[in-house]
Amino acid sequence: MRLSEILHREHQRTLQVLNALDGWQGKPQPDQLAPIENLLKDVIDVTKSDVQDHYAFEEQHLFPVLRNNGADFMVNMLSGEHELIRPIAQALQSLSETALETGFTQESWAEFQTLSADFIGHETFHIQKEEMGLINAINAMFTPEEETPLIALYQKT
Ligand SMILES: [Fe+2]
Ligand SMILES: [Fe+2]
Repeated sequence: MRLSEILHREHQRTLQVLNALDGWQGKPQPDQLAPIENLLKDVIDVTKSDVQDHYAFEEQHLFPVLRNNGADFMVNMLSGEHELIRPIAQALQSLSETALETGFTQESWAEFQTLSADFIGHETFHIQKEEMGLINAINAMFTPEEETPLIALYQKT
């Protein structure tokens, strides 16, 4: 599998979770955790693997190569979005962990709604941009042979 395909699949998975999160926008706090439990687990999973690890990999291994290819503008824009989204994703992750342990309070549900809306908005836009530019650029930047050690490295993280 090409590196672009791995990153593309993670983007798609994130979009699915964002879509499920969007389904809870404007909804009252659920009486039971059961209907939202799997989504909270997915949020934790996605914010760890598809934000934390995925962003770090892009920043360490892809953005420097893009810069060397003269794509400073794109890298600055995408890194700026990472900086913006990372704390939102982290806050949403820890809120989801707490909710799984102790359920929601009225306040934490309201915060969950706000953080979800921010995460959905910024992350959707970010993925759309990367899908238009970065994903195609990766195939042009690396040969399949050059990608092999990068893929091995990424799958270890
Ligand atoms: Fe990114
Ligand atoms: Fe990405």
